[in-house]
Amino acid sequence: MAPLFEARGLHLRFGDRVVLEDVSLAFPAGTLSGIMGPNGAGKTTCFNVLTGRYRPDRGQVLFGGRDITGMAPHRIARLGIARSFQLMNLFDEFSVFENVAVALPATRRRVADPVGRAYGEPATVAAAMAVLERVGLADRADQPAKSLPYGARRALEIAVALASDPQLLFLDEPTAGLGSDGRARLAELIRALKRHVTIVVIEHDMDFLFGLADEISVIHWGQVIARGTPAELKANPWVMASKLGDGA
Ligand SMILES: Nc1ncnc2c1ncn2[C@@H]1O[C@H](COP(=O)(O)OP(=O)(O)O)[C@@H](O)[C@H]1O
Ligand SMILES: [Mg+2]
Repeated sequence: MAPLFEARGLHLRFGDRVVLEDVSLAFPAGTLSGIMGPNGAGKTTCFNVLTGRYRPDRGQVLFGGRDITGMAPHRIARLGIARSFQLMNLFDEFSVFENVAVALPATRRRVADPVGRAYGEPATVAAAMAVLERVGLADRADQPAKSLPYGARRALEIAVALASDPQLLFLDEPTAGLGSDGRARLAELIRALKRHVTIVVIEHDMDFLFGLADEISVIHWGQVIARGTPAELKANPWVMASKLGDGA
C-alpha cells in the first residue's frame, strides 16, 4: 500500500549552504515515524518543507498520492495535516479551553469574535472538551494557558494541533525542556494518540523515540543516513556509537 505521506528526493539550500540533500521519507497510515539526528542536522527544515513553509529546490512531497510540493501551509493544513512547533505557540492570556476552541474548524470559519461565540455553542464546547479529554487537560480547561506547568503546555500544544482533526500530525521535539516524569507522561499521551492519527515525531532523545516509533529515519548533515525499526537501529553499531540521538 502506498504510504499516506511521502517525500521524494528533497533538496534545499539556503544561499550556498545545502541543508537538505536527496531526502526521501515515507510515513504509512496508522504508524508513528521518528526523525532523529543532532542539532543543526536539518530536521526542522525538513518539517518546514513537508508542511509548506519552504518550497524545495528539487523533489516532491506527496500526501495521499497527491502532489502538494510548494503548496501554501494553510492549504496543506486544510488537507488534514497538523504540526506543533519546536518553539511553543500558544495564546498565553487565553484559557486552555479557548486555545483549543479557536483551533477548531467550526470556530475558524467564524470571523467576528470566534472565542466569545464558541462559549455559546454547545457543539463547539463539546468538541473542545473532547480534545482536552484526549490529552488529559479537561480539568484545567478554565485556567489561563500561562498558568500551566511546562509538561501540560506541551500537551496543550498537541491538543491545539488535534483540534483540526488531522490525519497526520507532525511534532517537533515535543520533549524539549521536559524532565523524566514529563517525558514519560508525554510518551503515554503520544502512544494513545497513535491509535487514531498517523504521527511523525522529531526527537533527539533516542530512548523516547525507541520506545514509541515503528520506524526511525536518522538525519545527519541534511541526509538520511540510516533508517529502520528501533531494534534495527539499536543493532547498528555505527548509529549507536555516533550518539546521533544526543544532539552532540
Ligand atoms: N531560514 C533559514 N535560513 C538560513 N539557514 C537556515 C534557515 N533555517 C535553518 N537554517 C540552517 O539549516 C540548518 C538546519 O537547521 P534545522 O533544520 O533547524 O536543524 P535541526 O532541526 O535538525 O536542529 C542549520 O544550520 C540552520 O542554521
Ligand atoms: Mg529543530
